[in-house]
Amino acid sequence: MSAVRSYEPLDVVRDASGLKEYLEAVEQRLDELFAGGFGAVDLAAQQALRAGGKRLRPLLAFLASPPGQAPPVAAGVAVELIHLASLVHDDVLDGAPVRRGAPSTWNEFGQQVALASGDRVFALAFSELAAEGRLRDLATLAETALALARGEALQRDLRFDPHTSVEAQLRLCSLKTGSLFSAACRLGAGGRRRSLGEYGLALGIAFQIVDDVLDCVGEAGETGKAPGTDLREGIPTLPLLFAAERDETVRAALAGGPREGVLERVAASGALERAHEIAHAYSRKACSYLNGDSRRRELEALAQAVVERRR
Ligand code: FPP
Ligand code: MG
Repeated sequence: MSAVRSYEPLDVVRDASGLKEYLEAVEQRLDELFAGGFGAVDLAAQQALRAGGKRLRPLLAFLASPPGQAPPVAAGVAVELIHLASLVHDDVLDGAPVRRGAPSTWNEFGQQVALASGDRVFALAFSELAAEGRLRDLATLAETALALARGEALQRDLRFDPHTSVEAQLRLCSLKTGSLFSAACRLGAGGRRRSLGEYGLALGIAFQIVDDVLDCVGEAGETGKAPGTDLREGIPTLPLLFAAERDETVRAALAGGPREGVLERVAASGALERAHEIAHAYSRKACSYLNGDSRRRELEALAQAVVERRR
């Protein structure tokens, strides 16, 4: 893997004019939405929100916005809410006990509250945009929610299949992560620059590949998540597929066999470096869509930070 620096998206774009105010307004609105209302369901959402998160999607919406104007706060709120809802549900599906360094929502509140909470957060994303009366943005968000659900369905179909093609794997990254990154950029750009949606899509794929590498090697203290979840769940991520190609024991583990010592074998196989190279290629592809964008420097820096991150 290339030399890894500490990753903090805000570090690379901290000085963008108007960013601080925009993110503060997004945060304030997120807080308001869950301030007392639906008991445990809102409390669970509130806690999941406060556990942190990089706020990368609102940041993308901001950076994609046209010169001299920030995107509406509702756009940043909506993309962060969809992201939060999908993680709350994802942790139930993955049986993941920890998220953002704290017990995941189902682990703390039980599955029923977690599912209801995810549903409520999901619905709120649409109502935030509906309040703005922007039909095109609503259509973008609806299309994105469908892509996330298709990603989840595809992931279930591919589980425990060590012969999954690289193409299907990348399709999964595109649906489950690229789609929302792309939507964040498109909502931010307000339909002005379609190429920013392509930037977001490629960046999201790079982000997911790095996520999958970190799942093999990341320290829980740094990623805030328990490592090895993908192998346990039989999810054929790019690093696991590359390792399975070369190592029969990894292949058997990915098909549901014994997992003892397998992450070490994955690391020894060179698969992490291969997957990381592909993440770099997607990061470069993302940058190839940037032309006369007013925040090109920040968008490029972000694309680099995404592949160098450790959490
Ligand atoms: C995290 O993947 C999960 C996603 C990016 C999307 C999950 C989508 C759904 C559960 C379906 C749609 C649901 C709603 C409410 C929109 P990961 O498990 O690879 O990442 P992780 O390591 O952070 O858990
Ligand atoms: Mg997960």
